[in-house]
Amino acid sequence: MTSLEEQASSQWPLAQALQDRFVRYPHQGLKTDDEYNAVMAQLDFGAHFTDYMARASWDADRGWHGHRIEPYAPLSLDPAGAVLHYGQEVFEGLKAYRHADGSVWTFRPAYNAARLNESSQRLMIPDFPIPDFLASLVGLVSADRRWVPQDFGASLYLRPFIFASEAFLGVRGAQRFDYAVVASPSGPYFSDGLKPINVWVERDHHRAGPGGMGNVKTGGNYAASFFAKAHAQARGFDEVLFLDAATNSRLDELGAMNVFVVMADGRVRTPALSGTILPGSTRSAILQMLDDDGVDVFEESLALDEVWEGIKDGTVTEMFACGTAASVVPIGSLTVSSQRVELGSVEFSRWVFSALADIHYGRAADRFGWMYKVADAV
Ligand code: PLP
Ligand code: COI
Repeated sequence: MTSLEEQASSQWPLAQALQDRFVRYPHQGLKTDDEYNAVMAQLDFGAHFTDYMARASWDADRGWHGHRIEPYAPLSLDPAGAVLHYGQEVFEGLKAYRHADGSVWTFRPAYNAARLNESSQRLMIPDFPIPDFLASLVGLVSADRRWVPQDFGASLYLRPFIFASEAFLGVRGAQRFDYAVVASPSGPYFSDGLKPINVWVERDHHRAGPGGMGNVKTGGNYAASFFAKAHAQARGFDEVLFLDAATNSRLDELGAMNVFVVMADGRVRTPALSGTILPGSTRSAILQMLDDDGVDVFEESLALDEVWEGIKDGTVTEMFACGTAASVVPIGSLTVSSQRVELGSVEFSRWVFSALADIHYGRAADRFGWMYKVADAV
């Protein structure tokens, strides 16, 4: 087990014990019923936000302080704020799911909390205590409970982030930071749901390199990926498969998702966490779930050539991408320059998708203790 896994599986305080750690401020301007109904009737991904947000601040004298749930509003930031110049920020993404009895649950939130701290350590940002991270989710989801959709497949996407707010242009880590969580009621990430996606294999650009920041969640990695994604999309592809920057020959990540390869002999393989790949919570959950089900899972270096030939000769039957936002997405084709190979099967991906969704929505036993209740049924 990695330390992320260990921290995620520790016993953290339950929601009730954390309820008051973030003070809820009064809200004079909740969204009207019409505004609320319009958003909930047409759920996009990450396009609309709730009534509240969580906030805290850090400085060297006080450490983290000012934990509060306050009305959602634009932030005030000095134009010299370090994040605007040097990109010193980290973020997380997780979802709150409504169960049939009305209670609201998040999936492995301590994993996200621990990963946020790993990202922060890489970017010279102070750790945010794991119980405070959980408390911010509990406080925010309780205040924004009406925004957690009812429908299977829909959820409240939670976006915790920390940014350098010190007004200083010298090139060093900042001395002032802000933590916030915003929430967005969301439908499926890909509007076509489980339709297989067409993937462009990117050989000219990389999202991360050895010794860089690919294994942590910081905005610069995403900014680095937009150019390749935009060009691929302009040519009709849905996503980009990035190769490792050192050899330009091995599978790294698929856009902002981890990637899996399913073999005809039953093995399931995913690129090992080489330092340029984000340790996805979904990736880790799928590996544990499959292993528990007796599937042979392998974390290893995956050469594009081998996967490509495997698709052509039938030894590779299926590929899928995974992440919190999209859950599991089957890959329908890979294209390298003018060559394209098709993957015919989606059966395994759909099975993994359903197994995960059943846990998220409380339809199946939570056999790994992954779900964390953030709000009771009212
Ligand atoms: N890879 C990248 C670059 C990501 O941004 C994400 C999403 O957070 C993932 C993989 C999948 O991670 P997770 O399953 O924790 O959402
Ligand atoms: C994911 O949650 O899978 C992501 O890739 C996050 C993305 C929206 C930045």
